[in-house]
Amino acid sequence: MVQKTIGVLTSGGDAPGMNAAVRSVVRAALKKGFRVLGIQRGYNGLIHGEMQEMNMRSVSDIIHRGGTILYTARCLEFKEEAGVLKAVQVCKEQGIDGIVVIGGDGSFRGAADLSAHGIPCVGIPGTIDNDISCTDYTIGYDTAMNTAVEMIDKIRDTAQSHDRCSVVEVMGRRAGHIALNTGIACGASFIIVPEVGYHIEDVITKISAARELGKHHFIIVVAEGIGKVDEISKEIETRTGIETRGTVLGHVQRGGNPSVRDRVEATRMGYRAVELLEQGIGNRVIGIKGAEIVDYDIQEALQMKKSFDMELYHIANEISF
Ligand code: ADP
Ligand code: F6P
Repeated sequence: MVQKTIGVLTSGGDAPGMNAAVRSVVRAALKKGFRVLGIQRGYNGLIHGEMQEMNMRSVSDIIHRGGTILYTARCLEFKEEAGVLKAVQVCKEQGIDGIVVIGGDGSFRGAADLSAHGIPCVGIPGTIDNDISCTDYTIGYDTAMNTAVEMIDKIRDTAQSHDRCSVVEVMGRRAGHIALNTGIACGASFIIVPEVGYHIEDVITKISAARELGKHHFIIVVAEGIGKVDEISKEIETRTGIETRGTVLGHVQRGGNPSVRDRVEATRMGYRAVELLEQGIGNRVIGIKGAEIVDYDIQEALQMKKSFDMELYHIANEISF
């Protein structure tokens, strides 16, 4: 019997835990008798044939490392039909029978295109933003939130010492999941997310009410999808007289050693992806629903809508004083 080949790539923004997913895919596939190719820099590497054969040792010592050993990229060429056809040609030349794509929604669109051209692909959700609808959880989310909380705790020390207000922007692209959870974990006085929007009046009222109750320093967490950290900071300072500083946490949130949760979920999802390809099943994306690993048709998954946890948002508002 001819040995089959599986490729694995990481695409879009990197996320802590991607290495754990790569490790799981490589080892599961080798164990099942596949030849495994590590494709570098996402679809870019696929189009240009940048890939190398992986063995059990290729993925040693990476489970604890942030970033991705396969590198990642955003490849505009692959969004065009000609780019996809080039990639299909490379797959044929290299004898690739299926690919595991670790990334976000954009990467899954590419995986669907490849699947439609006869290269079965399975997507694994990897992004710190947790903004992928078909899954409760995306690889990197937990680590990024823990990093943000660690940073905001440090900001609180200095805000407390100076009786200041600190406005902190966290990542999340257009989604407020990171902001909501880090805001709660840091005891923020106000959390501003795109799913809800904000009126500066409400922020000022909240700060003033808390000050009446004896509070001297304040943390306001703002999601990247809102931005405007300087504008919000200035407004707070002018209207309340409280000295205010703005901080954009930025890419620090994308790095660092993955948390236990990210390592474990990445391992579980990687294993399932290989099981699907082993059965010849492509055009699927893996997800986690509750405690279960699930999988969906990619187009179906891309059409799903993710809800924002309004109950948690209201709890945060109720108890922040
Ligand atoms: P993410 O996967 O994190 O959402 P991007 O949106 O940057 O990140 O997508 C990653 C890569 O996936 C892109 O650089 C491109 O190569 C590919 N991709 C994105 N959108 C599409 C699309 N509509 N069709 C085909 N490929 C796409
Ligand atoms: O999707 C992950 C993410 O870090 C978002 O939170 C952020 O909007 C974006 O990527 C930043 O992208 P880049 O690294 O290209 O600046």
